[in-house]
Amino acid sequence: MSLSAEHNEHERIWWKEAVFYQVYPASFCDSNGNGWGDLPGLFSKIPYIASLGVDVVWLSPMFESPQIDMGYDISNYEAVNPSYGSVADVEALIKACHDSGMKLILDLVVNHTSDQHAWFKESRSSKENEKRHWYFWRPARYDEERRRMPPSNYRGYFAGSTWTWDEHTQEYYLHLYSPSQPDLNWESPTCRRAIYDSAVRFWLAKGIDGFRVDTVNKYSKHISFPDAPITDPTSDTQPAPQFWCNGPRIHEFIRELVDVMSEYRTYDGKELVTVGELSLTPEPEKVLEYVGREREELDMVFQFDITHLGQGTGSGFQDKYDFAEWTLPDMKRIVKKWQSFIEGTDGWTTVFNENHDNGRSISRFASDAPEWRVQSAKMLCLWLVAQTGTLFLYQGQEIGMINAPREWGIEDYKDVEALNFWDEAVKLAEDGTDPTRKERIMHGLRLMARDHARLPFQWDSSEHAGFSSGKPWMRVHDLYKQINAEAQEADGDSVLEFYKSMLKMRKEHKDVFVYGTFELVEPEDVSTFVFRKRYQDKTALAALNFTAFLQPAPPLVDLKLLVSSYPKTNPDTLQPFEGRIYINY
Ligand code: GLC
Repeated sequence: MSLSAEHNEHERIWWKEAVFYQVYPASFCDSNGNGWGDLPGLFSKIPYIASLGVDVVWLSPMFESPQIDMGYDISNYEAVNPSYGSVADVEALIKACHDSGMKLILDLVVNHTSDQHAWFKESRSSKENEKRHWYFWRPARYDEERRRMPPSNYRGYFAGSTWTWDEHTQEYYLHLYSPSQPDLNWESPTCRRAIYDSAVRFWLAKGIDGFRVDTVNKYSKHISFPDAPITDPTSDTQPAPQFWCNGPRIHEFIRELVDVMSEYRTYDGKELVTVGELSLTPEPEKVLEYVGREREELDMVFQFDITHLGQGTGSGFQDKYDFAEWTLPDMKRIVKKWQSFIEGTDGWTTVFNENHDNGRSISRFASDAPEWRVQSAKMLCLWLVAQTGTLFLYQGQEIGMINAPREWGIEDYKDVEALNFWDEAVKLAEDGTDPTRKERIMHGLRLMARDHARLPFQWDSSEHAGFSSGKPWMRVHDLYKQINAEAQEADGDSVLEFYKSMLKMRKEHKDVFVYGTFELVEPEDVSTFVFRKRYQDKTALAALNFTAFLQPAPPLVDLKLLVSSYPKTNPDTLQPFEGRIYINY
């Protein structure tokens, strides 16, 4: 499908207009005081989520897991981790969501399992085991001095090699993430069938409405695993996504997976929805191969240019937490690229700036200083709701949650990725390879670590922010008394109330906001982000001040103010972090 194909009008489908809300179960609401969020806790907050104007709840992994990577390391697809509850709790949740007019999607994590999964335990038990080939096992290589070396020089996502040596069977196994997350071998038809039965059919049969598909473009790899070119001479591992991402059979595998899902697809308006996590794919043509309607693969994907702002070369690379300066024109180019790639094509796009793998948007993209954080939250809300595509919010975004305070030390960070990057920085600083690395990486983690999104949800001003009656698994934000849902529900000017009314407004004007075409105004302006949306004769203009200073408002022709994030506006001037939307109808 070429980008210039004739598709003037996007087909209207419910999931394009829907607002998705991601719940990270460990940090949402704890019902039993053990410090971990759980499914009964989430169940009790379904009325809250519905009150926001959400249509679909996306629940991050609640499956049985040793929690090395917070549930993205699954040891049994058909069981719920005891800390979260039971399969019966998920069934109750499905019903509660449906009764409240919402749908529920789960995370499908099938690039890898936990090393505690029965499949891997069998696979690792002997070279002759019938599940040996369900994972990637390879013999060692040896250097001139007969030192054992991994089969290839790849760097994994969480720093270090993608290969771990298994003493028992004297071979290495592949893991793109931590050693406790061995990659499944999709080349094996029996392995694929087991994945479909256990991870896919089991939950669709229970009535969920679809999946967020984790690491969707990594199932097919170049299985000869050639060495990657040396791009970082200071390291013995090298980034190698060209060998394990968007591999030769990826579209065949996805179509097969989607065919399985189709067994459960109904045509009475309750269609399933899929959204894939598509990292390391900056080319619109390639993204379209996954989301073009005619391709019958995924409904939509997350493309991550926006969350890579500031992250060096990005996810999976050594410099991810070595903060790289960015400017507003950089952000505009990214937004423009992913807004317009669907124009004239049959693809679809997503709109988001937070998830469980990123720092909070207020802290990263605007200002979390006490005097500006509320305005920043509202301005970023307008940035989101005025964009074309399916809108995804992350828990806490709607109350303006911000990053952990700068004073917190590395001991308050829990994520395997942050801790591994930190250990690597300590090593490289102390052996003299990169003396300032510790300070730089800590700075990057303060802005962008995945931990920030995983702080307990701030429900109220009681102890532990009302998240739990016990000690939370992760430290609660120091500012929970100032930033919490209960206080904001009682305040008509709060971020929470603003979100609710803006989500309504987006739906009332969905032609132009959800389906409109996108155009940048003054792309090189470094202070304000102004864009125009059009749908037939309807026009909307969003004007967003990304600075703490007054900025000129854009000149208006035939437009009237629809909304501002400030109670009082001045026609000629945007106030600090003010956002406005104008329309012509
Ligand atoms: C995805 C998840 C991330 C996880 C990784 C490995 O990127 O979003 O949280 O660490 O997959 O499953």
